[in-house]
Amino acid sequence: MSDAPFDLLIRGGNVIDGTGAPAVRADVALRGGRIAEIGRPEGSAKHVIEAAGLMVAPGFIDVHAHDDAAVLSTPMDFKLMQGVTTDIVGNCGAGVAPVEPGSGPSIPGADIVLGPLPEPSWRTFGEYMDAVDEAHPAINVGCLVPHGAVRAHSLGLAPRAPDDRELAAMRDDVAEGMAAGALGLSTGLIYPPGIFARTEEIIALNRAVSEHGGVYVSHIRDEAGGLLEAVAEAVRIGREGGTPVQISHHKASGRSNRGKTAESIAYIEAQRAAGLDVTFDVYPYTAASTVLAVMRRAPEALDPNEVLVASCREKREYEGKTIAQIAQMLDLPPDDAMDRVLAEEPGATAIFFIMDETDVRRVLSHPLCMIGSDGLPSPTGKPHPRLYGTFARVLGTYVRQERLLTLEEAVRKMTSLPARRFRLLERGELREGWCADIVVFDPERVEDVATYQDPRRYPVGIEWVIVNGQVAAERGTQTPARAGRVVRRDRRD
Ligand code: CU
Ligand code: ZN
Repeated sequence: MSDAPFDLLIRGGNVIDGTGAPAVRADVALRGGRIAEIGRPEGSAKHVIEAAGLMVAPGFIDVHAHDDAAVLSTPMDFKLMQGVTTDIVGNCGAGVAPVEPGSGPSIPGADIVLGPLPEPSWRTFGEYMDAVDEAHPAINVGCLVPHGAVRAHSLGLAPRAPDDRELAAMRDDVAEGMAAGALGLSTGLIYPPGIFARTEEIIALNRAVSEHGGVYVSHIRDEAGGLLEAVAEAVRIGREGGTPVQISHHKASGRSNRGKTAESIAYIEAQRAAGLDVTFDVYPYTAASTVLAVMRRAPEALDPNEVLVASCREKREYEGKTIAQIAQMLDLPPDDAMDRVLAEEPGATAIFFIMDETDVRRVLSHPLCMIGSDGLPSPTGKPHPRLYGTFARVLGTYVRQERLLTLEEAVRKMTSLPARRFRLLERGELREGWCADIVVFDPERVEDVATYQDPRRYPVGIEWVIVNGQVAAERGTQTPARAGRVVRRDRRD
């Protein structure tokens, strides 16, 4: 046994505490998974990281992840190597619990978004969270109760309102997850079965979230022509359900809606002035990604040059090609080419170049905005590069190159802002006694290198990632450490 007073010493770096305060030169000493001292700690450590010239920051929190299944079965390298130490899963209403054993996936087709689904060893949402803990993920995991899974548990995919008994059962499922430490309730109101839910149903469920101090998180009903009405619906659900509101991946979708985030943000600011706690998140790209069939149904016609097939398991040669290119390949009109892709693979996913840079910048730079990758962890195809690149892209492109944000402000959006929003205690800031989730990165080099054609590439410049005091990645290589755990609302563990 070594008698060194510290487990790990990070020496000579510039410490960004996560609150937005300016970086200061300091050493950071860790012991027992916590931050023991920041400043000039006296005494030796078993391991030393030389961080001169590097930034030392709280580990990043990805507020919008779809890794519900991936955290059980993958090393989570695509997040960890970006500096992410905590993932928030269960977004867009999609998830893997609650479920009846042996009845198949909780939402038919959920694997399109979530990747391969394991045979569940759980029934309730709380049991799912326990299963995540038992799987010893490489990063921490916070969980939102997914409305779609809750609804499917009571009504399947029935396109109607629940009766009183069904609504009571849904409410019980939500309350069970919240009591077990879930962070809130998420909806995905463009996807079945969330699309079938009326506002009143969600308000009723949100009251159970309110009783536990959770957040209402929504992929809102319309991000295009009906953006403002859809934000207003989310706000109403928060107001009448008694919770704060988080608008997921806030955007204005489609050419004719360019600039609309100016109005949506003004509306959100007015709601806040009136006392309602509304925040939002974003991924730093002008392209969206989701199920092709869902976007096909949207009212605004898709430009075949602006739709790139990401995953088509039955016809791999379509992956990485635009609908225009596939149309040319098949000698078909673009609409027919799109139908052909969907006929081959109804669950094909695609990337849609439908946002304007001005809107992305406006949302990203707003003080209420957090960072969420919305990465879809498909093991095959060419996923949107946000899965691997989001956090490094904010730091490389929008901080260093474009100076849209200061480094301290960007880090705040990735750390203390989400930790406070989701009530993750003693995380999201570098403070003595708090959990040692830390990223050490090079501000001059940090950059995403994942592209639309070659998306599975780790960023550069993320030098060390520490999860609960253990080194989880070192100079671009993941270690065998599996120090992550489920982070529950308002709990100090
Ligand atoms: Cu999502
Ligand atoms: Zn979504």
